[in-house]
Amino acid sequence: MIEELIKRRSCRKFQDKSIEPDKIEAILKAGLLAPSGKNKKPWEFMVIDNREKLEAIAKGREHGSAFLANAPVAIAVIANTEKTDVWVEDCSIAAILMQMEAENQGLGSCWIQVRNRVTPDNIPTSEYIKDLMSVPFGYEVECILAFGYKLKERENNNIDDLPIEKVSYNNFSNSYF
Ligand SMILES: Cc1cc2nc3c(=O)[nH]c(=O)nc-3n(C[C@H](O)[C@H](O)[C@H](O)COP(=O)(O)O)c2cc1C
Repeated sequence: MIEELIKRRSCRKFQDKSIEPDKIEAILKAGLLAPSGKNKKPWEFMVIDNREKLEAIAKGREHGSAFLANAPVAIAVIANTEKTDVWVEDCSIAAILMQMEAENQGLGSCWIQVRNRVTPDNIPTSEYIKDLMSVPFGYEVECILAFGYKLKERENNNIDDLPIEKVSYNNFSNSYF
């Protein structure tokens, strides 16, 4: 696992190549295997591979989402917020598991934040996406994950330069040493 975590970097530039259906299926299985509070599984995953829809969703934020227009596939992580008060945590866990399975499948991915973000016209990005994708009342959108074959490999994370001062034992301390 550590080896995969060292390799995982956000990827925002993708090859013009579609993703095999079995790889998308593996990514979705990783999400569906995610643990959730009280096992409520409030999430649902919407796969988007329609170019016009990807382009429209890419316009859902002023910054930080334009690259989605050139991604082959995205998965919207949405939740039925009436099921649980920990849907944000549940969706986040499912999302990172899907990103890690993408890495395992030789693909790149990037998280696009939706919750608490707005469109250039100041409409909540979540409302904009729900409207585009006919999401029913009672759901919220946590994030959109972009997936594709990486255009180029990015530098690995550095295992020898981790912010180890963020770790403390028994009592809070912001210095490990
Ligand atoms: C909660 C969260 C929200 C993020 N939102 C965006 C986003 O809206 N757009 C984007 O391009 N990247 C987004 N990212 C990716 C981060 O910018 C990226 O993970 C961070 O800079 C570390 O880089 P790395 O993933 O290459 O290690 C988000 C990541 C997380 C975990």
